Amino acid sequence: MPGAIHAEGLVKTFGDVRALDGVDLDVPEGTVLGLLGPNGAGKTTTVRCLTTLLRPDSGRAVVAGVDVLKHPDTVRRSIGLSGQFAAVDEYLTGRENLQMVGRLYQMRGKAAKERAAELLEQFHLADAADRPAKTYSGGMRRRLDLAAALVVSPPVMFMDEPTTGLDPRNRQQLWEVIQQLVSGGTTLLLTTQYLEEADHLAHDIAVVDHGRVIAQGTSDQLKARTGGERVEVVVHERDRIASTAEVLRALGKGETTIDQHTRKLTVPVTGGAKLLAEVIRELDGRGIEIDDIALRRPTLDDVFLSLTGHTAEARPGTAEDTGNTTDTTDTTDTEGAVK
Ligand SMILES: Nc1ncnc2c1ncn2[C@@H]1O[C@H](COP(=O)(O)OP(=O)(O)OP(=O)(O)O)[C@@H](O)[C@H]1O
Ligand SMILES: [Mg+2]
Repeated sequence: MPGAIHAEGLVKTFGDVRALDGVDLDVPEGTVLGLLGPNGAGKTTTVRCLTTLLRPDSGRAVVAGVDVLKHPDTVRRSIGLSGQFAAVDEYLTGRENLQMVGRLYQMRGKAAKERAAELLEQFHLADAADRPAKTYSGGMRRRLDLAAALVVSPPVMFMDEPTTGLDPRNRQQLWEVIQQLVSGGTTLLLTTQYLEEADHLAHDIAVVDHGRVIAQGTSDQLKARTGGERVEVVVHERDRIASTAEVLRALGKGETTIDQHTRKLTVPVTGGAKLLAEVIRELDGRGIEIDDIALRRPTLDDVFLSLTGHTAEARPGTAEDTGNTTDTTDTTDTEGAVK
């Protein structure tokens, strides 16, 4: 039986760009699917097709039991959407924005007012409720937009990068709101650049690249696919990176990843703590000074990197070392794709 959101072979082209190249998705009722992927992977296009804003060239989608292509109006009544870019009316106050949404959904005046007040409180906007939205900060706008998507608590919600631009405290609060929503039975498809967010909120994660779902599973299942533990070393001096890579290549069980910028090398290993001790002995024997060394389980970052071959925008070929190592590029300038 198809879930609350079901897509089969969605294709969408824009001129020469094949934005969606056969997207298949299934989101069981009452669960959260996290859609992950690098910039331009097709996340927003998927959301727009599923929310009737865009007509796919081919494929099929069913949302809340209704065929999206055949009955878009009916689908619209069962869904809520918070887009990648906040859509609020600048000249209305926060309160007026929310009340207007309520009225659009045929709520009575009193009910719309009460719901608006409740959401303003929940999203910490009560103090600014009666100021025009154009005076709001980026994070406040984002919160207002999300509140607007929740006015009528629809059974199926779509959120495209809901927490981009929010500070850590507001992100945390939004996570709580989302968890409450889902515990109340809402089905949610959310896209995010924050792997930690998908890890925290999503029951299932679908990794999208070049318009296709290239992997789907729980966070643990995806991590298991990427292999077991890895050793991570931060060397003190940049010119010892190559000799450290040699050591890791000899003792590790796969490709060594080098981040020149942070002087961090990572290699998959088997053998746990014993192997870690061996690495330390070997580095010490060669007089290589290290700032940090750790044994850790794969993170979603590793999954993402190994599946898509890059963080958000890979710049291959810049590694000084030319063995079988890969330069993962500086992860701090990739629009927060890897945290
Ligand atoms: N209206 C459009 N006209 C032309 N090309 C488009 C249009 N919308 C999307 N594209 C292209 O389709 C591809 C997928 O875009 P999409 O917005 O779905 O990516 P995304 O995964 O949401 O990326 P991001 O993480 O940057 O938000 C990109 O190559 C984009 O340039
Ligand atoms: Mg997008």
